[in-house]
Amino acid sequence: MLGKAWATRVLNGCLRRLQRESAELQAVVDRDANVALEHPTWLLEALRHAWPEQWQAIANANNQPGPMTLRVNQRHHDRETYLSLLDSNGLPGQLCVHAPDGITLDQPCDVTTLPGFEKGLVSVQDEAAQLSAALLGPALAPRPGARVLDACCAPGGKTAHLLEQFDINLTAVDSDNLRLARVDDTLQRLGLTAELQHADATQRDWWKGTPFDAILLDAPCSSTGVIRRHPDIKKLRRPDDIRKLAALQRQLLDNLWPLLRPGGTLLYATCSVLPEENIDQVEAFLARTPDAKATTPGDVAWGAPSGSGRQLFPEDGGHDGFFYARLEKR
Ligand SMILES: C[S@@+](CC[C@H](N)C(=O)[O-])C[C@H]1O[C@@H](n2cnc3c(N)ncnc32)[C@H](O)[C@@H]1O
Repeated sequence: MLGKAWATRVLNGCLRRLQRESAELQAVVDRDANVALEHPTWLLEALRHAWPEQWQAIANANNQPGPMTLRVNQRHHDRETYLSLLDSNGLPGQLCVHAPDGITLDQPCDVTTLPGFEKGLVSVQDEAAQLSAALLGPALAPRPGARVLDACCAPGGKTAHLLEQFDINLTAVDSDNLRLARVDDTLQRLGLTAELQHADATQRDWWKGTPFDAILLDAPCSSTGVIRRHPDIKKLRRPDDIRKLAALQRQLLDNLWPLLRPGGTLLYATCSVLPEENIDQVEAFLARTPDAKATTPGDVAWGAPSGSGRQLFPEDGGHDGFFYARLEKR
């Protein structure tokens, strides 16, 4: 190098050291990147393992505040009319792309300032959570009076949406009495009725023996799709919780399936982004349940196909992370 032998020796030494220590250096860089993502290591590893392409985007979205999304009660107004009402009250927003009743506000606000909130004109609900009504539409819209079970209903967002959309007989079950009281409050505000039951949906002692036309199982889950709304999940969740939750979800699926009439539809939902609670859960259920077949639509613009279901990731400024699988009894 320019005839300077000492410089060549220094450079070669540096290159040899880089070669020797590159794995170590990479580990330091990875550790720093993980620290910047502000997630527990086990969760980042689980995300990286499950979603090698998307894990960093998921973790970044988890660190941004979620937008405030509204669900317009179609029994009162269509959403275009309500959007104008919002605008004239100084609360501009945009129509949601995927949820037909949804509006995302440009800025979050106090619910009491939403026009007609107390009269039931509108509710707060994430866009991905609003998709359950559209997914159950083909089973419910043509069947006024259909018997529907919302098996894990509290605090009642999806219960209320189903009742706003369809003229159905809804039984809403939850094992948490305090949370069930919130369902009651919501239904009263919206002027809707359901039969509320404080019960354990892994058991059948509460069931009156008549099969349901449709079941919504919005299962208890790790909530790893809604971390931005509940950041304490990062601290409170333990790796072992995932295995326990998957076992509970399996129990719920197996216990509720026989309550569905032949030809009926069960919609399985979680606000998780972990395969153990989603794709793996549903594929294992289909494998052990010969009269179940998946009917999750493929022609939708949201989420990505994930086995027999669809997975949504939390999106910066957009919807939460969710998983849906629609199953029909043959
Ligand atoms: C994801 S949340 C449901 C959210 C609700 N569907 C909504 O849209 O507002 C899950 C619910 O399952 C309930 N739960 C957990 N284990 C249950 C069980 N064994 N039987 C019935 N409900 C259960 C919890 O109390 C919790 O309210």
